[in-house]
Amino acid sequence: MTAPAIEIRGLEKSYGDLAVLRGVDLDVAPGTVHALLGSNGAGKTTLIRILATLLRDDAGVARVAGHHVAGEPALVREAISLTGQFAAVDEVLTGRENLVLVARLRHVGAPATVASSLLERFGLTEAGDRRVATYSGGMRRRLDIAMSLVGEPSVVFLDEPTTGLDPQARLEVWDAIRALAAGGTTVLLTTQYLDEAEKLADRIAILHEGRIVIDGTLAELKALMPPATVEYVEKQPTLEEVFLALVGARKEPS
Ligand SMILES: Nc1ncnc2c1ncn2[C@@H]1O[C@H](COP(=O)(O)OP(=O)(O)OP(=O)(O)O)[C@@H](O)[C@H]1O
Ligand SMILES: [Mg+2]
Repeated sequence: MTAPAIEIRGLEKSYGDLAVLRGVDLDVAPGTVHALLGSNGAGKTTLIRILATLLRDDAGVARVAGHHVAGEPALVREAISLTGQFAAVDEVLTGRENLVLVARLRHVGAPATVASSLLERFGLTEAGDRRVATYSGGMRRRLDIAMSLVGEPSVVFLDEPTTGLDPQARLEVWDAIRALAAGGTTVLLTTQYLDEAEKLADRIAILHEGRIVIDGTLAELKALMPPATVEYVEKQPTLEEVFLALVGARKEPS
């Protein structure tokens, strides 16, 4: 067995009296897409920020690309990239200029070549010399992910990569994420869209009340619930049904 790209054991984090992570255990295999699901406020962003060395945990151990996040943050940072919910692209620059800028900041050799190959990889070659202000949401997001790949990180964290995108733009971003994993990159992504996890992820983990309550393939998660049979037609549970059964239906604000 190859060592996990991300290994989390007993991770805890509180904000004052609010215990958000209460003993998180999770392994992510190299070159796979792992989706992290959870209700609003479950602690997904908190966990990703700890793994990306932006936040200190209170207890437990996390290793990313073989390095301890608490003890070797510089080595972890060299191996990862983090893309947050809001695109970090500069509107005034072209797509190509954005990529070259990041390559220079990260001291990557041959910035122009790196920029060209990433534009091509993300289907942005034609748009590459236009200002980002003219890009659609999906193009910006693809550029954002392309920028996070400058320097070839082995582990990529995507926090809600498609929130706010229309269905077509989401498909474009999905293709980009699939291409990442096909190239051997490990992807841990959070999402509010359960169909996104169904379509993209090799494995799906659900964070609930501070712990990973389930982690498995889509088929394994669906097998948790008995299929309902109606007149000889077997109805497979959707991931949404599994999620709501585990996490509980959202309470309406009174
Ligand atoms: N810096 C902070 N100080 C205090 N409380 C915080 C801080 N950051 C997050 N929290 C709280 O911790 C909990 C987990 O937040 P987090 O952002 O990790 O959740 P999330 O799963 O990413 O939610 P969402 O789906 O809304 O993005 C929430 O109750 C939030 O209010
Ligand atoms: Mg979040």
